[in-house]
Amino acid sequence: MGQAFLEAHRALGMTGINPNVGCVLVKNNFIIARARTSPGGRPHAEENLISKLTKTELKGSSLFVTLEPCAHKGKNGTSCADLISKSGIKEIFISNHDPDPRTCGKGLEILRKSKIKIKPDFLINEGKDLNIGYLTNFSSNRPFVTIKFAISLDGKISLKNKNSKWISNALSRNFGHMLRAQSDGILTTNSTIKEDNSKLTCRLNGLEKFSPLKIIVDRGLKLNNDYAIFKNSKKENLIVYHNTNDQKKIKNYSKNADLIYIKNKKNFLKLILNDLANRKIKNLLIESGTVFSTEIIKANLVDQIAFFRSNKIIGNDGLPFINSLNLKSVSDSINTKVINFRVFDNDIYELRRLT
Ligand SMILES: NC(=O)c1ccc[n+]([C@@H]2O[C@H](COP(=O)([O-])OP(=O)(O)OC[C@H]3O[C@@H](n4cnc5c(N)ncnc54)[C@H](OP(=O)(O)O)[C@@H]3O)[C@@H](O)[C@H]2O)c1
Repeated sequence: MGQAFLEAHRALGMTGINPNVGCVLVKNNFIIARARTSPGGRPHAEENLISKLTKTELKGSSLFVTLEPCAHKGKNGTSCADLISKSGIKEIFISNHDPDPRTCGKGLEILRKSKIKIKPDFLINEGKDLNIGYLTNFSSNRPFVTIKFAISLDGKISLKNKNSKWISNALSRNFGHMLRAQSDGILTTNSTIKEDNSKLTCRLNGLEKFSPLKIIVDRGLKLNNDYAIFKNSKKENLIVYHNTNDQKKIKNYSKNADLIYIKNKKNFLKLILNDLANRKIKNLLIESGTVFSTEIIKANLVDQIAFFRSNKIIGNDGLPFINSLNLKSVSDSINTKVINFRVFDNDIYELRRLT
């Protein structure tokens, strides 16, 4: 199953609206095939695996798959559960149930009827971590949210004059681009666009096509059309959330962005995330400054923080990654647990989940 997780991980951020699934086939104690969901989401992992093997190879084998095989038919006129049922596979280990109502329990039902030996919930918690964006879409009607910061050793994200290029080193920045490719959406603010003129694309060789959906929060539609992001985007890959009724601003805004009006000011951030879940954005990466990050963390809408902590000391006049929380007791502080860390030369990457 660990190998199946690895396969699924390789498809992270590349499967469109579909979950990233991995599977491996074992026969006589050897892995004889491995597969993952194709770029764009189809064909599914199990179809990719079965289609490259003969009946003889499949007969009597064991399949390890990270998510319940689908019960709904694809363009090939069949479902993965059907394909597996007719394949000759003897037993199947499944990590997570699929919360999609078209499959939930129905995939298992098809397999049960075919008398394949089923081991569900196999390494279920490890699987949950892999499918976390997909599962969060269904359980919370929002994406799984990660905020990313390049921070100085003393926890600052920019100088007082808002210069932040470059706090982290080139290795960290490359890994940051990898995080973009592995996300389905990347969100920033009007202020950060103004300061950094960010393009929000993945610029790693060969992975450019996996750049996520670009999202700007610009409540008052303050940005003019000169920023780089508007030059390199189309309505299909750039959304701007706003809450202004000013028709002149709406009319004059870049035509390369899809403007989405959110009327409710009080629940603005939550409604943005709900809308993104409806668009099947599973994993969302936020790259914003102090003010917005503080607001969205305080609203309990952030799941984890990715810090790229550099070797530079900026001083107390720099911008912090979070503003005052006015806590009365340390026991009220936001707690995190370490999920991952890596060393990039003199920078340290820390992935911390909010608990
Ligand atoms: N080192 C890093 O990783 C990193 C990452 C990103 C940015 N930065 C730096 O951060 C600096 C910018 O920080 P910043 O604090 O000025 O900007 P920011 O936090 O990115 O954005 C602030 C803007 O967000 C909007 N906003 C605030 N609260 C909101 C809410 N509840 N709902 C929706 N929108 C809300 C407001 O714009 P409106 O009032 O116009 O709506 C506000 O001006 C720049 O220097 C940039 O380089 C560093």
